[in-house]
Amino acid sequence: MSSFSNIKYILSAGLMLFAFTGCQKNNPNMKNSGGNLLTGDPHSFLQTNGATVKHLELALEVNFVEQTLNGWAEWTLNPNKSDTLILDTRDLKINAVYLNNNSGPATFSMGKNDPVLGQALIIPINRHTQKVKIIYKTSAHAAALQWLKPSQTKGKQLPFLYTQSQAILARSWIPCMDSPGIKFTYNAKIKVPANLMALMSAENDTILHSNGVYHFSMPYPIPSYLMALTVGNLQYKSLGKNCGVYSEPETIKEAAFEFTDMEKMVNAASSLYGPYAWGKYDVVVMPPSFPFGGMENPRLTFATPTIITHDRSLVALIAHELAHSWSGNLVTNKTWDDFWLNEGFTVYFENRIMEALYGKEYADMHEVIGYGELKKTLKEMGENNPNTALKQNLKGMDPDDAVNDIAYEKGRFFLLYLERKVGRAQWDAFLKEYFNHYRFQSISTEEFLQFLNEKLVDKNKESASKINLNEWINAPGLPASFPVITSNLLDDAKQLAVTFSEGKPLRTASTSKWHTFQWLHFLRNLPEKLSSAQLAGLDQAFHFTNSNNAEILCDWFQLAIRNNYKPAYPAMENFLNTVGRRKFIQPLYALMKATGQTETALKIYKNAKPGYHQVSSHTIDQILVSE
Ligand code: BES
Ligand code: ZN
Repeated sequence: MSSFSNIKYILSAGLMLFAFTGCQKNNPNMKNSGGNLLTGDPHSFLQTNGATVKHLELALEVNFVEQTLNGWAEWTLNPNKSDTLILDTRDLKINAVYLNNNSGPATFSMGKNDPVLGQALIIPINRHTQKVKIIYKTSAHAAALQWLKPSQTKGKQLPFLYTQSQAILARSWIPCMDSPGIKFTYNAKIKVPANLMALMSAENDTILHSNGVYHFSMPYPIPSYLMALTVGNLQYKSLGKNCGVYSEPETIKEAAFEFTDMEKMVNAASSLYGPYAWGKYDVVVMPPSFPFGGMENPRLTFATPTIITHDRSLVALIAHELAHSWSGNLVTNKTWDDFWLNEGFTVYFENRIMEALYGKEYADMHEVIGYGELKKTLKEMGENNPNTALKQNLKGMDPDDAVNDIAYEKGRFFLLYLERKVGRAQWDAFLKEYFNHYRFQSISTEEFLQFLNEKLVDKNKESASKINLNEWINAPGLPASFPVITSNLLDDAKQLAVTFSEGKPLRTASTSKWHTFQWLHFLRNLPEKLSSAQLAGLDQAFHFTNSNNAEILCDWFQLAIRNNYKPAYPAMENFLNTVGRRKFIQPLYALMKATGQTETALKIYKNAKPGYHQVSSHTIDQILVSE
């Protein structure tokens, strides 16, 4: 890769030529359907029989003052006979395009802009074109990026940046084939201010580079949604042979304590479904505004700090993101319509890791809690809603708006159902073969079903004749063949909720060793309507308002909103102003709206919104502002 001074040279040369030749044209013929037959992906401008990419060289300078990334992306193409290369972009300023190593810039044009899909970048090529280099800059509003002020970090001294590319936001920071059906390898060179560390979904260094220049390499093919970058005041601590954690120095000790079982998780996962394919497994702790619990960026999971509770009670999230190293990162959903192949498999696998480490009683709780969440989602969406089938049809929709428990929980229970049909030994052998067979590829639901039929169903004519795939894959609602699940520990929690609602005295001693799942089950089984005196009694006994566990807080605040229990509101307001995780903030704002407290919600949101990533504020806008 050439150095940064070279970039600047090429950039200015490109700009000059650009001004004279006016090589950017608007292309009115470029339709925005986004649909294509090559990958069948309705969320990319990629076209049938078009050229595809195999490798990316990326060079970017991170500018915290302008809040932009500035530099170039050079794509190596697969051999092809196509006369155009089409890339997805969103809000990118394309300065120039160069083909092969030609000194003069090439022509390119931009398709019509779509608010969700962005714009196609259309580059005429020929069969001799092997490399296409795009000189570009991101917009200050790039949808994937969140630029944080020092005050939004733990240390309060230095700024922070992170990307969130899934589902279709990679195109807002890299011109790319933004479809999970396309995989490529990459190298990158990132320049950051000298006192900050840069990390990517690739081979990372563990020490600060005083010149601010970082080199990365991802030698295995990955889809664009796994492109990731974070920049901040970060420190590394090893947690075993091949894993460790990065976080701001202020929280590195706590993080290392919380994730102490990481190496055991990697070993458990590898012995279940085959060797870990990516070399190292690290986690980087994000600031609290991170819109997800975790993001499975290869070799480097991005995680919310809300799982640091000092009692290791929320580490299932690490097992989840680690499991994606097989389901999702190794075998990838071909389009977002097949999202359950990523998430359903991962929830199932996550719980197998948790069972291996912490036992069956834990795994039982995980299932019963997941079932409760699935039932709630089905109730909200309607049992007959076609979007409650595993196979989705998201054409015309933003895939980010369609993330819900169907893919996660219905998907997981489908796999549990299959496990029970054929027995664990055979099922595990099948899954191991599946991950190995499709490694580094992207597959559709239909391809999975064909493999399933061939390798499992046909071999089990006896029991498998009763396997009903359609009611899981294509039918809405809860399948008749839904597996039976129970948890003794959660039954205890439910019993205590019943005791309480009958007005009987609570024995707090019995709860001293409760797991988070038991508290959630307790809260979820209380009557919806409670008096202020009852809520005050609960709070006095169990200190919910002061809990440091975001999962428990989120449920408790929902009870408070439902019953207008004002003593919990200052803590809730504080929570909404610090935590940006969509899963927590979405139900709170939605419930305030549903219970006639929109004004309170808007007041809190107005203050909190600037601290949220766009993924979260987009969702809350839809709840509070749009309709
Ligand atoms: N890959 C997802 C997050 C995601 C999904 C981002 C869709 C964008 C679009 C990640 O693995 C995930 O599922 N996170 C969950 C973790 C939980 C299920 C343990 C989350 O963030 O809550
Ligand atoms: Zn996931």
